[in-house]
Amino acid sequence: MLPTYSPEPFGDFSTSERRAAMQRALRHVAGQFGATAPLLIGGEQRLCESKLASHNPCEPKKIVGYVSMADQTLAHAAVLAAEAAFAHWRHVPLEARAQVLLRAAAIMRRQKEELAAWIVYEVSKTWIEADADVAEAIDFCEYYARQALDLQGRDQPLTPYPGEYLQLRQIPLGPGLAIPPWNFPLAIATTLTVAPIVTGNTVVLKPSPRAPLLAVRLVEILEAAGLPPGVVNLVVGDDAVLGDFLVDHPQIRFIAFTGSKAVGLRVLERAAVRQPGQNWIKRPILEMGGKDAIIVDASADLSAAAEGVTASAFGFQGQKCSACSRAIVVESVYDAFLQRLVERAGHLRLGHAALPETHVAAVIDKRAFDMISDYIALGQEEGRLVLGGEVVDHKLIEDGGFFINPTIFADVAAHARIAQEEIFGPVLAVIKAKDFDAALAMANDTEYGLTGALYSRDLAHLERARDEFHVGNLYLNRKCTGALVGIHPFGGFNMSGTNSKAGGPDYLRLFTQAKAIAERL
Ligand code: SER
Repeated sequence: MLPTYSPEPFGDFSTSERRAAMQRALRHVAGQFGATAPLLIGGEQRLCESKLASHNPCEPKKIVGYVSMADQTLAHAAVLAAEAAFAHWRHVPLEARAQVLLRAAAIMRRQKEELAAWIVYEVSKTWIEADADVAEAIDFCEYYARQALDLQGRDQPLTPYPGEYLQLRQIPLGPGLAIPPWNFPLAIATTLTVAPIVTGNTVVLKPSPRAPLLAVRLVEILEAAGLPPGVVNLVVGDDAVLGDFLVDHPQIRFIAFTGSKAVGLRVLERAAVRQPGQNWIKRPILEMGGKDAIIVDASADLSAAAEGVTASAFGFQGQKCSACSRAIVVESVYDAFLQRLVERAGHLRLGHAALPETHVAAVIDKRAFDMISDYIALGQEEGRLVLGGEVVDHKLIEDGGFFINPTIFADVAAHARIAQEEIFGPVLAVIKAKDFDAALAMANDTEYGLTGALYSRDLAHLERARDEFHVGNLYLNRKCTGALVGIHPFGGFNMSGTNSKAGGPDYLRLFTQAKAIAERL
């Protein structure tokens, strides 16, 4: 009997014990910098000649670690290993599969600060953001273990039919591909890996080359939790070498992907092409981008709205698909809100992610830095710069870190490029709307539909938002980031993806197919 699921509490870094524990973990992890991690294929560690270096975005000259790089031959071997393991893993009793997830959650809980420290160094999350990433990974394991027992532990309900014994079983699909992004390097790698395996599938896990080390940690944890060889196979390498090759592979049955719109659509198109020897329709499960809006209504609590927009726009440097990149503000409160927002966001401290006082750290790498910088240059033409826009701390520049100040452009037109294109950085467009109707229309006027929020005290407007604000995750009078597993099933509409709702009650069904059995009695 399992206790009822409840989300993992966040670390309270206001206590000296937790602060000391995190400092210890950061030192401990720093002592392991530079090690080379192997790939894992069919339960065998594979060290290769070519290695991928993972850099600390705050100090890019520092290498956090290396991972062996797979070529297509090894990627093919990984798919065959997943295919071979499927033959037995699908028959392993459900309770034993669920037990692996529960043990993995327990190990993650014991290693909480250490895992958070790896996240701090590899992707420059602040302590709080890194801790939340680990908590979410724990939640996925705990939640899906229970969901699987519910979904596959009993036949699903059917209408009884005289003279027939009826069953509806949810059976696994086969070997599949998990392609997580770098921005939730543990949490999303976990959801895309453990949801398929707990339902009886096997996985080739291909993390982003921008942040492969947490996927290495995840695989180590799953092995320690008793996962048999071949059920999860880790391949790391160049996207150009591995991406299409794995998506096209005829033995791959499903593709669980989180990342950009461009790559997600590419996966979708390629997955639709039947390859020689492929006897099934590949199932793509895609989470893509967002251009998420927070509407600030005339009746809003402006301090709460400024707080929520600041947290949503600049948490983890705005590098979340859920991040607020448009604040749409009703004219009558526009000036007052903007003043509070600039004041609130102006207090954010830019710095190294490993320092406890930091609110905003470096963006992931040079490519991201350059792209965001280009959008900031464009913003100078499309709006009025009211905060940030440049790197001001010269000490940080000397370290070569990819630091960008929280940046706000006011008076941006709803159709400006910085109001329509996903920037994936700490850049916010503030847009003026003449009234609530206009604000709602602007919020929906995007190709995406992931998250959105409304700050308002007007009950009719809150109801209108419930009905008309077209996003997969709608938040009323709160920030639009930080969905909790089991509480805010996460996934969007339109170009934001296939609405797969990670951490929701239907997620595991995506990794199963239903078999209806009728026996004449
Ligand atoms: N689930 C995350 C959030 O809600 C984004 O991936 O912020």
